[in-house]
This record gives sequence, C-alpha cells and structure tokens, in this order.
Amino acid sequence: MPQILLTGAAGYIASHTWLALQAAGFDVVGVDDFSNSSPEVLRRIEALGGRPVVFEQANVCDAAAMDAIFRKHRIDAVVHFAAFKAVGESAEKPLAYYANNLGGLVNTLQVMQRHGVKTFVFSSSATVYGTPVFLPYTEAHPLAAMNVYGRTKLMGEQILRDLETADPSWAIAWLRYFNPVGAHESGQMGEDPRGVPNNLMPYVQQVAVGRREFLSIFGGDYDTPDGTGVRDYLHVMDLAEGHVAALRYLLDAKKGCTVNLGTGVGYSVLDLVRAFERAAGKPIPYKIVDRRAGDLPSYYADATLARTLLGWQARRSLDQMCADSWRWQSQNPQGYAPGG
Ligand code: WQD
Repeated sequence: MPQILLTGAAGYIASHTWLALQAAGFDVVGVDDFSNSSPEVLRRIEALGGRPVVFEQANVCDAAAMDAIFRKHRIDAVVHFAAFKAVGESAEKPLAYYANNLGGLVNTLQVMQRHGVKTFVFSSSATVYGTPVFLPYTEAHPLAAMNVYGRTKLMGEQILRDLETADPSWAIAWLRYFNPVGAHESGQMGEDPRGVPNNLMPYVQQVAVGRREFLSIFGGDYDTPDGTGVRDYLHVMDLAEGHVAALRYLLDAKKGCTVNLGTGVGYSVLDLVRAFERAAGKPIPYKIVDRRAGDLPSYYADATLARTLLGWQARRSLDQMCADSWRWQSQNPQGYAPGG
C-alpha cells in the first residue's frame, strides 16, 4: 500500500488522521518537531494502532532534514498539516507565521519535487472564505482572508495553484476544514492545546474538568437563533476519514480537487454547551461577554462536493463530538502532560 508522509504528525488533526490512514491500509511516516505537540502522542498512536510508529523528528523548514527523510523512506504522497494556527497570535507574530506556514510549505514542496513525489494534500481552512457573500459556503465562494493566519492559508492555496499550473502532473487536494472538534473514541487521544485554549471545545473541556472556572461566550447579540455564534463543527475522526478519501481520489484520479470538509450543519455556541452538558452530566458555567474581534456571526459548509467527488460525508453527531471530547478530557485531565 502507498506510504504517506504526514507533517505536523503529532498534532491534533494529524494524529487522528494517522490512525485513520493505518486503518484504511496505508503505511505512514510521521514528521514533527514538537514545537506545538507532545511526544506522548506517538505512544498513544502505537497503542491504538497496534504497531510501531515510523517517525522522524524534524522541522519542515529544514531542507536538509526533510531531504534526508525522503532519501530514507519511500514516500508516495504527503499530507501537510504542519502550521501555526492561532488567529490572535498570528497578528502579534506575522513573520513567524509566514516563515513557518509558507516557508515550511514551499520547502516541503521543493523536497518533494527533487524526489519526484507529486501527490499532496494541503490542510486549508474555511477561513479563506472571509465574510460570507452567501451561505452555506460552496467551494466557488469568493476568497478573502481576514487575519494573518487566514492569509497564510490563502497564500498557501495560491502557491499550490501556481505549482499546479506550472506542472499539471502534480495531484493536489485543497481541503478546507470547518471547525474540527472531538476526540478518538478510545479516550486516549484528543485536543490538547498549549496555554489558554483559543477555540471553544477545548475551553469547554477544560471547564468541565475544573481547569478553567467558567466559559466566556463571546457575544450573545448576533443575528442568530439564540444570539451566539454559529459554526459547522465536525468530528475530528470524520475529518481524518475525509483525508483518506481525498488521498484515494488523488492516487486514483491523478488530478487535484478543492473540497470543503464540514457537516453542512451550523450549531451555536449554546447548542454546543448544552450538548456537552448532556455528555458530561454536569453544568458548564458560562458568562456572556463582549464579541471577540474578527469573529463572524455564522458560517457553515455546503458539503455536497465532498460527497459527490470523494464519496465522503461527516457521520458523527454533535452529541458524539461532545461525548468523545468529554471521555478524552475526563480520562486525561492534564491532556498529554505526564500524569495525564
Ligand atoms: C467558535 C465559536 C466564538 C471560544 C477558528 C479559526 C479557524 C479554525 C478554527 C484553524 C465562535 C465562540 C470561542 C471561547 C466562545 N482554525 N467562542 N468562547 O473562531 O470559528 O475558527 O478555529 O484552522 O481558522 O478562525 O473557532 O472555536 O475559536 O470559535 O464563545 O472561549 O465559539 O465566538 O462563535 P472559530 P472558535
């Protein structure tokens, strides 16, 4: 079976994709520099996958290190997850974000080119759609990034368009994620951001285990059914399986695709909080505070193309997203830190 290189392999989405790829019969080589992830994840992948992991510690910006990996392993395709992803931090550290997110992308592509590997999956984001001109977002929606992080994703997409134009023998998947949440059903892997969580679900998880006192809900006066922000949350294992479907498409069709990976359903912050309370069997204390700068009131995916082109659709419900998140965080109150 094809051997897939995952960059950022110890990260949240990549680690779950690693398991999904192995379950689908692919071999995997993981690459990570642990700048934003924990080596403990590799031990969880070995335990859950039932086989030793093949892993190389390297920074995707290190051309020599990446070249050595391609000389050591037979790589058939690359899934590129390695990137910084905190919207607020990206405004404070634009150069670090451009150097890592775009420099790492270009370096990885150059190494692939030198080794004749031209099948590539890019971890993009619904953030490239900017303020909705229409909803649900289809893949034809206009593109406009609203922050530095979003611009690294949009510019990354454009770099890949130029590469495909210059050399149509590349097979590239532009995968636009909506809001990944949840955890592996075993409770042994999940989302474990460093510091104060920026995103809703990991913050709710940490309130539920007593690491945070209460949830601040950013705005209760949006033009949405209950006044709180609406998003398209999708289970991380559905997202992982979407990568398997995209790789199969690229390897079979030998041509590219641009696809939304979302459920097509929007849920509000309060919808998610209520679902989490049902899953955890306890209240999640919260306060409604001012809106967060840069937040959109509502967005969600048109997920038709993923279904018709890749044969993929999200299957797991919001309740399951919350139940799996709760199992992960309650069994690992400190995440991957020693002592769990
Ligand atoms: C979801 C909703 C908040 C935290 C971001 C990035 C996007 C992608 C996913 C990388 C919103 C509300 C949140 C909190 C809250 N990242 N919220 N209290 O902003 O939709 O998307 O993460 O690819 O690019 O922009 O996700 O989880 O931060 O927010 O009320 O403590 O929850 O206002 O309505 P977002 P989020």
